Amino acid sequence: MNKNIYLNTARLSATGLLALMIAACGSDNNSTPTATSSSTTATSSSATASSDMSSMSSSSVAAPMTTAISLNFDDMSPGAVPSGFNLTGTGVAVVEGEGAYSGDLALKVSGSELSYLSMADFTGTHWGRLYYKNTQKPATIGEYSHTTLVSGFDNDAQFRFVDMVAAPDSATDAGKYQHLYNTEPNDISLEGPYDNSYDGEWVCMEWSVDTAAQEFHLFKDGTEITLANFGTQSNSTDLAEAKSYVDETKTFAMTPIPTVISELRIGIQNYQGDEFTFLLDDIVVADARVGCEVANANSSSSAMSSEMSSEMSSEMSSESSSSAPSGPTDAEIAARVAAGKALYADKGCAGCHGANGEGGIGTFPAIDNTALSYDDLDAVITNGIAPFMAPCTSPSDCGAQIADYMWVEFLGKTLTADGGE
Ligand code: HEC
Repeated sequence: MNKNIYLNTARLSATGLLALMIAACGSDNNSTPTATSSSTTATSSSATASSDMSSMSSSSVAAPMTTAISLNFDDMSPGAVPSGFNLTGTGVAVVEGEGAYSGDLALKVSGSELSYLSMADFTGTHWGRLYYKNTQKPATIGEYSHTTLVSGFDNDAQFRFVDMVAAPDSATDAGKYQHLYNTEPNDISLEGPYDNSYDGEWVCMEWSVDTAAQEFHLFKDGTEITLANFGTQSNSTDLAEAKSYVDETKTFAMTPIPTVISELRIGIQNYQGDEFTFLLDDIVVADARVGCEVANANSSSSAMSSEMSSEMSSEMSSESSSSAPSGPTDAEIAARVAAGKALYADKGCAGCHGANGEGGIGTFPAIDNTALSYDDLDAVITNGIAPFMAPCTSPSDCGAQIADYMWVEFLGKTLTADGGE
């Protein structure tokens, strides 16, 4: 078993406890010692050439591997665009301090529009690997919500390599999403099961495309996802078969992947206008499988300690503004309520819910009688509710501050050290 142990710093509790989530990223298909050491070598050597488009080969692998793209974002400035890429839209940025998978920086993609990094002339036959983490999903999902993170374009055809569909709140699979391979035209899908939840963990996705054989394979955390549900067929990962499939009523035809894809896109595309936010890190495209191992993942003590300290300081500053150590004094409560009241006015909440949450404006609901718990109030305000209510993430504890105000002034309840009850 090829284990890649990594540490994921969870939010610190008020008492300063750090929860370490240990996850294994293994692959039965990539489990021999030779494969492990070669993929590690190739990944770590290409990581030093991060954001450099030059091809690299590793001397220690049996067949030399060419790395076309290797992005861990760590030698970039926050906000910069990786060299070799063009930026489209405003929802893509290299960010620091949000808990990268490796090093300090990751790519953050967000929004409901097309927003992506674009690169030209990208080889059709390839292996890809990336880590993603869903840091925010819409509070409500009204219909199946389709989001693409990585895709190739060739004229009008699009090949969605890292693609996902979230089940609506009304479905049996509510709260879950699937991975799939999807192509345009005709929106043809080879789909995985709805067995992923929004748990805030980093996920390793690998994919492979062979244009000669017209085969596509998808892996999550090292294990292949069985892709099915193409039209009325099932278990088809053979794109040639998919392409030849003709349904009398639908005339589907899956577009074959060309040997050169004219454009590669890394970012976000959502087809329902839902506002998702993801972090992406450690993106590699090569002519062979690199596996999920990342040389400088945040499992080394030095990387951990720098991440811990940055997480800790941001967490502590936000804690200190929204929760007193224990049994807040009247003055502290008054300060928290006043800060939340100011934000409620600044953020335009009154425009829909009324100055005192009394409602009566259009069809927007009153919120002075909400049955939500303190934590749910915080979450709803922080994450927003599409399509009307935008997320409130500035300042980072916007949700908690306004929840403080609503809790006391609207609901007449008591604030505690770390919220309300
Ligand atoms: C553009 C109009 C609009 C604005 C601005 C807006 N909201 Fe809302 N809000 C809504 C709508 C619509 C709902 C109900 C959504 C639903 O139930 O699907 C809602 C629901 C809520 C709820 C959930 C109430 C419950 O009991 O479930 C809370 C809390 C809330 N809003 C607080 C706020 C706060 C705080 C702000 C300002 C940061 C804000 N809203 C800004 C339209 C708005």
